[in-house]
Amino acid sequence: MKLFLDTGNLKEIEALVPLGIIDGVTTNPSLMAKEGGDARAIIKAICNVVQGPVSAEVVATQWEAMVTEGRDLAAIDPHVVVKVPFTREGVRATKVLASEGIRVNVTLIFSATQALIAAKVGAAYVSPFVGRLDDIASDGMGLIRQIVDIFEAHHFSTEVLVASVRGPMHIVEAARMGADVCTCPASVVEACFKHPLTDIGLEKFLKDWEKAQAGRA
Ligand code: E4P
Repeated sequence: MKLFLDTGNLKEIEALVPLGIIDGVTTNPSLMAKEGGDARAIIKAICNVVQGPVSAEVVATQWEAMVTEGRDLAAIDPHVVVKVPFTREGVRATKVLASEGIRVNVTLIFSATQALIAAKVGAAYVSPFVGRLDDIASDGMGLIRQIVDIFEAHHFSTEVLVASVRGPMHIVEAARMGADVCTCPASVVEACFKHPLTDIGLEKFLKDWEKAQAGRA
């Protein structure tokens, strides 16, 4: 399963990419707004660092304008994937962009039927938001299972990109279910590095080693 970072923050990306575990980046208008500055320049800089798929979202809401904006975003860098919200207009725009060979990530997916429709018009990725479903007492990961089953049964090449991730257990469940990608805030990736037994174990290894060295002296 691929691991993407869900952020528009270049520093977070630069800190984690050298570990070799980050396969791509997703952004959205809220994340980009937090960064300020020139959004196109930030997307370009992210592409240079990650060298993998980088989702940049359109803010237009009519299909013709979404297509124009999508083409414009795709021209920033070959790594750009155009993110389009799941609306009737977004589906129409996805069909056009996909037919031009532009990869589209259909976002704000909250049901299996939405994912199926996005796959039918050629989306490269669908982004079901598991955390936001959990927030309203719905089964976010249950939706992932449904989508993975449907895409497998019908041999869709559309990738299931688990989004709105809140913690490491979402990553574990996504991997077990066979999702293609999990996009996570940097804090969730950092949390995967923490285990008290690893810390205690390392401390003991180093102390034992030092003791043995001191005994030899
Ligand atoms: C998806 O690509 C979105 O950027 C993101 O995962 C939304 O997550 P949130 O619910 O934490 O805002």
